[in-house]
Amino acid sequence: MSAAAPAQGTALDPAAAAGPEAVRGAAPPPATEAPPPRPGVPRHVAIIMDGNGRWATARHLPRVAGHSRGVEAVRRVIEAAIAQGVEYLTLFAFSSENWRRPADEVSVLMRLFVSSLQREVDAMVRNGVRLRIVGQIDAFEPRLRELIAGAQQKSAGNNRLNLTICASYGGRWDILQAAHRLVEQHRAGASLPDEAEFARGLSMAFAPDPDLLIRTGGERRISNFLIWQMAYAELFFTEALWPDFGSEEFAAALEWFAQRERRFGRTSEQLQRVG
Ligand code: FPP
Repeated sequence: MSAAAPAQGTALDPAAAAGPEAVRGAAPPPATEAPPPRPGVPRHVAIIMDGNGRWATARHLPRVAGHSRGVEAVRRVIEAAIAQGVEYLTLFAFSSENWRRPADEVSVLMRLFVSSLQREVDAMVRNGVRLRIVGQIDAFEPRLRELIAGAQQKSAGNNRLNLTICASYGGRWDILQAAHRLVEQHRAGASLPDEAEFARGLSMAFAPDPDLLIRTGGERRISNFLIWQMAYAELFFTEALWPDFGSEEFAAALEWFAQRERRFGRTSEQLQRVG
């Protein structure tokens, strides 16, 4: 997913990366196979990728250079998530509010989405990644919408990693669109929904709620990302700027997560009794 030509044989494309030894060795599991659950590993990691602009400004580069380098961090984190056995990885690439940015920055971001989809999707498909784009897709130009539809369709049979890119996405928009649909259903005679039924109307209904939210760039806020689904997520904030984020930083966040006691409203004693 880089503005520069991608390196040959990345971990997203193990067939290209593997040498003759790997070809002769034990057969790897089929690329589309879901990873077995690993104790202490979050099933679903969501990331607010912040700090691209500051990364570039610190180097006297235009802000958009930070976004280009940010695409490389996206690739590293996808590889790390696969290696760690994470099932769902959800990245906040462009918020409903990001449309307010200067037009040239928005335009570069749109071009990056297009070039990333063009360059990376085949390797992702080969490596068992299922790609979904979630948000107000109608806001995008037709070419980008076509690429999104093609990428989703090509990768639909995979489940080794469920990668979701939230683009033109806002948590309040998501709740509102679910509520609008439910109002229509209620008018047509459906009963009022409980929490689980309401959640089925949200745009991430295919995924479990995030277990871990990582936000890079030093800010400590949710910024209208998955606000319903984040109710019980563990929140990990790091000063690292997104273009500097990689497999080590990802592993550190997962190690921190493994130490958390997730009580979901219960007491520590109750959890210990259950074992
Ligand atoms: C926030 O940093 C980052 C964004 C608004 C864009 C994120 C986009 C990418 C990482 C590249 C494209 C991604 C994909 C999936 C192809 P900021 O600009 O707010 O940084 P700042 O806080 O330092 O100004």
